[in-house]
Amino acid sequence: MIIGTRLLATKEAPIHENLKQALVQASELDTMLIMRSIGATHRVWANTAAKKCADLEANQADLPELLKIVGGEKARMMFDQGDLDAGVISCGEGVGMVKDIPTLKELFDRIMAEAKDIIGGLAA
Ligand SMILES: Cc1cc2nc3c(=O)[nH]c(=O)nc-3n(C[C@H](O)[C@H](O)[C@H](O)COP(=O)(O)O)c2cc1C
Repeated sequence: MIIGTRLLATKEAPIHENLKQALVQASELDTMLIMRSIGATHRVWANTAAKKCADLEANQADLPELLKIVGGEKARMMFDQGDLDAGVISCGEGVGMVKDIPTLKELFDRIMAEAKDIIGGLAA
């Protein structure tokens, strides 16, 4: 775990508010694997673009075709303008546990407090 997904839904993350809200709404079932056909499997948020990519792969699409969907400039449109179906974004299944958009300080304070509780519980 590298908590990439959790950090997307923080005040400081440089992505559009629409996208942060969409990740808060997403459940653990709202991710999917794409780009396996080109040997670059990624788990992503299952939006329209991800599903389109999977459809293309099922029809033996080649890399240039897939890049029209998964290319970085499309992701930029999603990140900067909040167009939620413009591109794909990496996303772990842990997105289902993301329920709010704290600051990084709030998030890490919370993680530390939860860890202390767990350690305390183990010791008891
Ligand atoms: C915005 C974002 C970008 C990522 N970029 C990469 C990457 O460049 N290379 C990589 O191997 N994994 C990348 N990952 C995937 C993470 O390594 C990790 O496997 C994934 O997010 C699941 O873990 P998590 O639930 O802790 O986020 C990225 C994840 C996110 C959320």
